[in-house]
Amino acid sequence: MKKVLFVCLGNICRSPLAEGLFAQHVHLQGLNDKIKADSAGTASYHTGELADQRTRANAASHGLGLTHRARTFRAQDWHDFDLILAMDKSNLENIKRLCPNPALLSKAKLMREYDPEADSLEVPDPYYGTEKDFEDVYQILHRSTAALLASLIS
Ligand code: 4NP
Repeated sequence: MKKVLFVCLGNICRSPLAEGLFAQHVHLQGLNDKIKADSAGTASYHTGELADQRTRANAASHGLGLTHRARTFRAQDWHDFDLILAMDKSNLENIKRLCPNPALLSKAKLMREYDPEADSLEVPDPYYGTEKDFEDVYQILHRSTAALLASLIS
């Protein structure tokens, strides 16, 4: 079993969508018993909440339901997951500070290292943005999570 964790700031916009899209790709490839996904936030403001209404509306417009409840990233996640994908550099720095053992640091990467069309290494935070910003995040994460899965099974 490979375990993959997606991380952003609030765990209500970017990372729950990344988790849902990655899980959808895994399901379509028939790999549910081999690969598991979760997501977490570096901040705890939204703990226990479903994904942001705008994220859920956008995902639903693409036929994807999101049921994740926000949780905060914890040091134990460095042990519990094989691969940790941070949405931006600030998220990556924040989780690195919680890393209990430098030998585990190589588990973490930026999500857009897998984006075949990346014009930036960061998934932009849509929280204060428009509907288009949410759609842009969807497109970035759809192709990045597909490429991530392809890299794991190649
Ligand atoms: P996320 O977006 O990190 O993609 O979940 C945000 C969600 C909430 C806040 C900021 C970004 N916030 O400031 O509450």
